[in-house]
Amino acid sequence: MTSAATETISAGAEHLCDVARCLSTIAASGHDVRKPSSERNDMAAITLTVNETQRAVDVDATTPLLWVLRDSLGLTGTKFGCGIAQCGACTVILNGDAVRSCVTPVSRAVGKSITTIEGLSPTLMHPVQQAWLAEQVPQCGFCQSGQIMSAVVLLRAIARPTDTDIDEAMAGNICRCGTYVRIRRAVHLAARLMAGERP
Ligand code: FES
Ligand code: FES
Repeated sequence: MTSAATETISAGAEHLCDVARCLSTIAASGHDVRKPSSERNDMAAITLTVNETQRAVDVDATTPLLWVLRDSLGLTGTKFGCGIAQCGACTVILNGDAVRSCVTPVSRAVGKSITTIEGLSPTLMHPVQQAWLAEQVPQCGFCQSGQIMSAVVLLRAIARPTDTDIDEAMAGNICRCGTYVRIRRAVHLAARLMAGERP
């Protein structure tokens, strides 16, 4: 090989090293090179109040609250079912209202109180959790954190709900295992427990 050819190969190798260094620096910075800056959503530090604790997250303001809870904060008790507000598996409580976190942008939760299933009672002593255990409501369990959160909101609004009240309030929470009869019984039991009555 001539010395000119050796120099060309060595210059080319150096250039490739520079490109590799450049790409790894970009990757380490988290910069998205796939889109022009005009199309990128900017990440921002957002502070949320989740289960009475302030939590900071670095996410795009349009990120669904569900993904922030599950992926950024590790609160995986809230489940992903349909992603289009049709099943209720992702239900959390936002300032007292039951909301579908899969379609709630995280920006909507800023300055509000978010309660997830983990925030009810770490020792499972919330009356709704106690009633769910006593009536052995869950089958596969996938829908149940959403069911429980909707039941908590119902019982705050109506202390002694009728079957019709329960069916109406829980209509957006789908259970593929068909636990609806046990859910009804558990809501009635939770109402009695909350009123201080013996089960
Ligand atoms: S996952 Fe949100 S309603 Fe189904
Ligand atoms: S318990 Fe299985 S989906 Fe409800």
